[in-house]
Amino acid sequence: MLKAKVILVTGGAGLLGRSFIEAILDNHGTAVIADVNQEAGLALKEELSKKYPGKRVAALPLDICSLESVGDLIRGTSSRYGRIDAVVNNAYPRNERYGAELEQVTLADFNQNVALHLGGYFQVMQQFSMFFRKQGFGNVVNIASVYGIIAPRFEIYRKAGFTMPVEYAAIKAAVIHLTRYFATYYKGSNIRFNCISPGGVFNDHNEEFREAYSRYALNKGMIEDSDLNGALVFLLSDGSSCINGYNLVVDDGFSL
Ligand SMILES: NC(=O)c1ccc[n+]([C@@H]2O[C@H](COP(=O)([O-])OP(=O)(O)OC[C@H]3O[C@@H](n4cnc5c(N)ncnc54)[C@H](O)[C@@H]3O)[C@@H](O)[C@H]2O)c1
Repeated sequence: MLKAKVILVTGGAGLLGRSFIEAILDNHGTAVIADVNQEAGLALKEELSKKYPGKRVAALPLDICSLESVGDLIRGTSSRYGRIDAVVNNAYPRNERYGAELEQVTLADFNQNVALHLGGYFQVMQQFSMFFRKQGFGNVVNIASVYGIIAPRFEIYRKAGFTMPVEYAAIKAAVIHLTRYFATYYKGSNIRFNCISPGGVFNDHNEEFREAYSRYALNKGMIEDSDLNGALVFLLSDGSSCINGYNLVVDDGFSL
């Protein structure tokens, strides 16, 4: 479904990023792992080059919060491959105090986490849109969250030892809305902007949390990273060419 397409995934070395990169390779696309953690990006590239012989996978450094770094990535990728078909805005920057309970979040931390994550997503969208407009086509898929559309179910977190951070709600709701803003702003430019809102992805959560979470889902409970791949590949493919400004929720009904 992605034959001949060149697709970058920001945060490509992380939990979801890795799965997205593999889905792109599985569908015969060229995949670029763009991550601030260069070591992890290069290690993943090495591993996938062996697993998918003959497929094109690259790892390039990226800090979504640095204008210079985003520019270098666009220049480096477009000169290497002659085109960029899509970018998946998927990185997950946060400061060291991210994840504190509401009352402990200082204004400085709130602002910093919003600036890193939402600001970084904005900068990637802005810079790629400018490149895509010149190129004549482009596609942006933003990774949002169900917590951008519903309020957290705090009872799930009560015994879990972690919470759903307040910044996350602000960031992900804004990512969904910015997707619509960019889609309409770039009317007539042949650039699409959509987002995926995943539910909770299982990643070694304890059984109690998994059970508490799963009570709200319809069949599976917490989803797996690979459960998002169908939605991602569809939005990256020409099969979704008339879908623009849309938020595709993949959560096994958790948000209903
Ligand atoms: N895991 C979930 O349950 C879940 C659910 C819904 C949405 N999401 C969203 O999916 C996206 C990916 O989450 P994840 O769970 O894979 O996170 P992760 O922490 O496993 O991976 C994030 C990756 O982003 C990279 N990164 C951090 N700061 C960066 C920066 N400034 N520039 C470039 N790369 C940077 C990290 O090095 C890491 O490889 C995030 O937007 C997250 O909010 C995750």
